[in-house]
Amino acid sequence: MSYLGDQVQQADWKKEKHSPVIHCPEEVTAGEFFEVKVNIGEEIGHPNTTEHHISWISLFFKPEGDKFTYEVGRYEFNAHGASVKGANEGPVYTNPFFVTSVKVMQPGTFHALAMCNIHGLWESTQEVKVK
Ligand code: FE2
Repeated sequence: MSYLGDQVQQADWKKEKHSPVIHCPEEVTAGEFFEVKVNIGEEIGHPNTTEHHISWISLFFKPEGDKFTYEVGRYEFNAHGASVKGANEGPVYTNPFFVTSVKVMQPGTFHALAMCNIHGLWESTQEVKVK
């Protein structure tokens, strides 16, 4: 039996171009919005071509002590140079990058799950404390 979770890869983002990088404060105030920035390729750039690109990143929050994980948002990156002229001849590209505003009521862990169209699923995590 194979499970999707078994296919999710993890690696240090400083050494692996597919690993999402999650930037957020180490400690936040309960109920106050703060920014969470997620990108890919901060240390080692990932290709962004019609043939090879990051398709989407989903951000989740797992509250400490909670049984369940909650989806924060899903960010799709649909422009990678495709056009009627051919691959990589198009006028627009999108980067695997987003910033969102979030508030949490208790400490927990952010999980970013990214999809490379040819190298599969990649996950990174970032804990956040609450004061
Ligand atoms: Fe890739």
